[in-house]
Amino acid sequence: MKQVTIGDILKAKGQRKLVMLTAYDALFAKLFAPHVDMILVGDSLNMVFAGRQDTLSATMDQMLYHTQAVCAGAPNSFIIFDMPYGSYTSQELALANAVRAYKESCADAVKLEGGLERAPTIAHLVQNGVAVMGHIGLMPQHVRAEGGYKVKRDLTKLLEDAQALEEAGVFAIVLEGIEAKLAAQITKSLSIPTIGIGAGPEVDGQVLVWSDLLGFFTDFKPKFVRRYLEGATLVHEALERFVQDIQQKNFPGPEESY
Ligand code: KIV
Repeated sequence: MKQVTIGDILKAKGQRKLVMLTAYDALFAKLFAPHVDMILVGDSLNMVFAGRQDTLSATMDQMLYHTQAVCAGAPNSFIIFDMPYGSYTSQELALANAVRAYKESCADAVKLEGGLERAPTIAHLVQNGVAVMGHIGLMPQHVRAEGGYKVKRDLTKLLEDAQALEEAGVFAIVLEGIEAKLAAQITKSLSIPTIGIGAGPEVDGQVLVWSDLLGFFTDFKPKFVRRYLEGATLVHEALERFVQDIQQKNFPGPEESY
């Protein structure tokens, strides 16, 4: 049985804050599962896991592989499959790929980026029994077209996008890179939960990329990230001790030997 259902997510609005975190493998999914409402197998894995410059080259096969791993590590978690760039350019393609996500993994829902222009595709998925999470504001899959990651400030457009997605039937919307006071207004205008990332505190929940949250990604720190662990530093310190112990013939000791 899943610990969290769509019903629980919808009911949380106005009652308690929702927590979502990315995971890309079984090991970390298992660690995160007891603490979060939702696990997002984000296409950010293309940067974090595969070391690419942006998310655009992630493929359906890669996303499925990682979602299967997350499912194995956290079988009872509410898991969201992030539809990669190019996998939902038409209603038919979107449905075929969402069906793959359902058939080939334990994903409970899919997420796709886009506002008003994406609403007919989302409505098509919802009508065919797919649970969809929306994603508006800063859309990382638009990074090449927009020439960078740009915070969004056009309230009229954002409200129009959010409204269109709610009407299309999404159960929640990620608000990314949106001025805090605008995100608060969008959140108030909807009856479904908003999950913010770089969208201030007045949203219905928060999501972060796990390696930002735990300090494993250190090339730069986006303004919206708070590190709850200095993961990279801890790894370096542990490996220094490991190397030292080997050099000084302290590892393995009698207790680690047969
Ligand atoms: O891919 C991802 O990790 C995401 C989150 C940043 C919301 O879409």
